[in-house]
Amino acid sequence: MKTIRFILSAAVLISAIGCGAQSETDRKVEALLSQMSLQEKIGQMNQLSGGAWLKDEAAAGNVGSILNCSDPKEINIVQKAAVEESRLGIPIIASRDVIHGFHTIFPIPLGQAATFNPAIVEKGARIAAIEATASGVRWTFSPMLDIARDPRWGRVAEGSGEDPYLDAVMGVAMVKGYQGDNLSDPTSMAACIKHFVGYGAAEGGRDYNTTMISERSLRNTYFPAFKATAEAGAATLMTSFNEIDGVPSTGNKWLLKDILRDEWGWDGMVVTDWNSAGEMIAHGFSRDLKHTAEQAINAGVDMDMMSYGFIQYVEELVKEGKVSEKEIDRAVRNILKLKFELGLFENPYVDETASAKVDYAPEHLEAAKQCAVESAVLLKNNGVLPLSAARTILVTGPLADAPYEQMGTWAFDGQKEHTITPLDALREEYNVIWEPGLAYSRDKNTKDFARVRNAASRADAAVVFVGEEAILSGEAHSLSNLNLQGAQSELIAEVAKAGKPVVVVVIAGRPLTIERDLANCDAMLYSFHPGTMGGPALADLIKGKAVPSGKLPMTFLRDAGQAPFYYNHNNSGRPCNGTETLLNDIPIAAGQTSLGCTSYYLDTGYGPLFPFGYGLSYTEFEYGKPVIENAELERDGVLRVSLDLKNKGKYEATEVAQLYVQDCVGSVVRPVKELKRFERITLAPGETKTITFELPVAELAFWNFDMEYVVEPGDFRLWVAGDSASGEPVGFVVK
Ligand code: GLC
Repeated sequence: MKTIRFILSAAVLISAIGCGAQSETDRKVEALLSQMSLQEKIGQMNQLSGGAWLKDEAAAGNVGSILNCSDPKEINIVQKAAVEESRLGIPIIASRDVIHGFHTIFPIPLGQAATFNPAIVEKGARIAAIEATASGVRWTFSPMLDIARDPRWGRVAEGSGEDPYLDAVMGVAMVKGYQGDNLSDPTSMAACIKHFVGYGAAEGGRDYNTTMISERSLRNTYFPAFKATAEAGAATLMTSFNEIDGVPSTGNKWLLKDILRDEWGWDGMVVTDWNSAGEMIAHGFSRDLKHTAEQAINAGVDMDMMSYGFIQYVEELVKEGKVSEKEIDRAVRNILKLKFELGLFENPYVDETASAKVDYAPEHLEAAKQCAVESAVLLKNNGVLPLSAARTILVTGPLADAPYEQMGTWAFDGQKEHTITPLDALREEYNVIWEPGLAYSRDKNTKDFARVRNAASRADAAVVFVGEEAILSGEAHSLSNLNLQGAQSELIAEVAKAGKPVVVVVIAGRPLTIERDLANCDAMLYSFHPGTMGGPALADLIKGKAVPSGKLPMTFLRDAGQAPFYYNHNNSGRPCNGTETLLNDIPIAAGQTSLGCTSYYLDTGYGPLFPFGYGLSYTEFEYGKPVIENAELERDGVLRVSLDLKNKGKYEATEVAQLYVQDCVGSVVRPVKELKRFERITLAPGETKTITFELPVAELAFWNFDMEYVVEPGDFRLWVAGDSASGEPVGFVVK
């Protein structure tokens, strides 16, 4: 540590000379940078996966950050080598994918988006940071901001769905939760906005695949959440695996310098995804690993995750003049700044007793339960829910008692022993007959089905827990067929034969195509892998101790063949108008004439199964007609729209009222509608509240034909409703 003190005192000396408006951190960075050899600088740009066995690399100054280690003892071993054995004693940053909780696992991010409640998402991220930092993790690779319009893509589980506004709101909430008020707070960890950019647009929903996204689509759809979270202070950003129109993001100077730095003025640190630099060889963008390092650094990458290209070749590249030391200094400044801001020079070590004091704290579990309650979406209910009168219920299905699966994808540090399953929780509320029926979600063995049907006949009602094992969503887990796996649909049908009320609870990592299962049940609750406390949350909803309020963050399809499908689509020149002829209505030997002349499918028609923003309650909400305060607005004006919302039922409940706007005519075609605001309103039975949305006209801006970010004058329409397909439009004009 002696070396560091000398350097920091040099920083103080420089500041005493008063060299301009540099911050204290900048001065420390410059003082340290001026001491570093080229090899030491390159060492900081190298991120390796591992724990204590990396101590020698750390002692040699060859690693700036480690990932995938969450053991405080091991992190301290590597840190001690870096701080006390390397020449300059620069601490490492320990990083981890803490994307929906650390030990206390929250619903997967797609489920958290379904809450439409940024406050509870921020709280979950704060709790994740408290638990993760207590184990020595100071950098998480979250939030994932990839817009997802195709549920075949397994990573829809990790993001906030299809809408840019919801994506931005949830991303900002997570950044605030992880980073807290000050990065140097020991409970704060650096966020990492990822994957920049367009990764979710992979053709065919097949992970890592080509994306063809125009600049205008990038700016209007894929950039907004990244820009919002960058402006909210996200400390780091991760490049994406995909190439956009032939240019891999990790080597894309337009993205990483022109947009991020020059246009947005963002000054955080850029890390690659896992070997995404090295993968530019497979892309056919780089000749060899050395070439990838040259391209990545010159494009604006600061740190290399696990390609080993930087540590092996950058010294050579600098000597050959292919990478300037100026670029290296830029990268190392961003890395050192992050380490100073995290307070790692002053406090490099983690208290190895700290995690036991915070992990699974009662208030953490309670927050995880509340988040799971609010993330569940009621898709169907013919009145059987809540099961308040039932005394004996059958609990069946492969996800009823699956503590590991319930945590969902990327829950590395969640311990299944702490999970409370639906079976556990329902046994506290009912006399439960337990018949698994199937052993796991892909199980096709129907040998126990007769037992299950017999059990159903002895119960007042049946609750069937189906869905996906955790491994069936997440990275590299794309599916071409989105029906329930195995014999799960057959299990639901078998239970239905008993003639008792059937409630289906789907626990999955993505929107599945469950239309045929809907026909075989009286109610369906959709829970996106709800995490550690999913059982108590679902039991409260089934019992009626809680009322569903979740709304779909992604469109639900009738068939995977409809993908990609999203509510905020362009209208096309021949939008579906309901006059279309469907497959079974086509006359035999029909003449060669068009059957509908609109954009639809002969077999599935046009519409989705459930639209974005959809979700039922145990009560009924009535929306009054929206009233616009001033229907002729200047471009610097504010749109104010009010309406009455009434709870017509007998349960106190929360509704997510959504404001959608359409720009009717533009210099380029505009989406049929876009979510611009939402608000959670809780109403007592019979209560009516007037709600008002305020929307600055400036937020109607978009990147237009001339690639300018402007509000174009003209006619607009708005809707306020409980989902993206409901409500009547009201017009207004921007002058
Ligand atoms: C993975 C993922 C990325 C993750 C990183 C580190 O391949 O694409 O989201 O943060 O590697 O685990």
